[in-house]
Amino acid sequence: MSVIISPSLLSANFLNLGKDIEIVNESSADWFHIDVMDGVFVPNISYGMSIISQIKSMARKPLDVHLMIVQPERYIEQFHKAGADILTVHWEASTHLHRTLQCIKSYGMKAGVALNPHTPVNVLEDIIQDIDIVLIMSVNPGFGGQSFIENSLHKVKKLKQLIRETSAKTWIEVDGGVNLKTGKELTEAGADALVAGSFVFGSENPPATIQALKQL
Ligand code: DX5
Ligand code: ZN
Repeated sequence: MSVIISPSLLSANFLNLGKDIEIVNESSADWFHIDVMDGVFVPNISYGMSIISQIKSMARKPLDVHLMIVQPERYIEQFHKAGADILTVHWEASTHLHRTLQCIKSYGMKAGVALNPHTPVNVLEDIIQDIDIVLIMSVNPGFGGQSFIENSLHKVKKLKQLIRETSAKTWIEVDGGVNLKTGKELTEAGADALVAGSFVFGSENPPATIQALKQL
């Protein structure tokens, strides 16, 4: 299976968001990556439900919603109503992760867990079977356009091993600093899905950039 590409709308042009949504619709990308930041869990604030509902009304591909917020369990139903297909919460923000994952799934969404760069993958040992997607953060969450943290490759390999050992069906997604070089290294290490923001929307030809990532 070819790698899943999830362009991050954080780097899109908000004054002409419809145009960038249509670019992704028409491209070989698989998902829309939507970054929600609350200014508490991360030092930045992005957008919330009303923008996501409007994106949903135009998007012809699943919405991959990445919550960088504290107590994400408070908003699961609202993100479902806004149109999330995949809902990812941070391990560091979830005190009762098992309950949160079951709640996400009860709405028919795929349940994801994100790990900050300093969080080891072995914290997922006893929950991996319940996770549809692990999102390895390869930058510190909060901003687009940062440099890839090399240790993320090691984490992807370790996670792949944990998934194999436990016969889990979990996919590995990686977010931050993805370009053709790091993307290739990540797919070789075992990543199933790649998020790319500035590399896609900062390029001269976003559809061609998406296609180049897709072919890694
Ligand atoms: C960062 C976000 C990312 C961000 C990635 O907190 O989670 O999804 O958009 O941006 P790039 O691809 O530019 O590193
Ligand atoms: Zn993200």
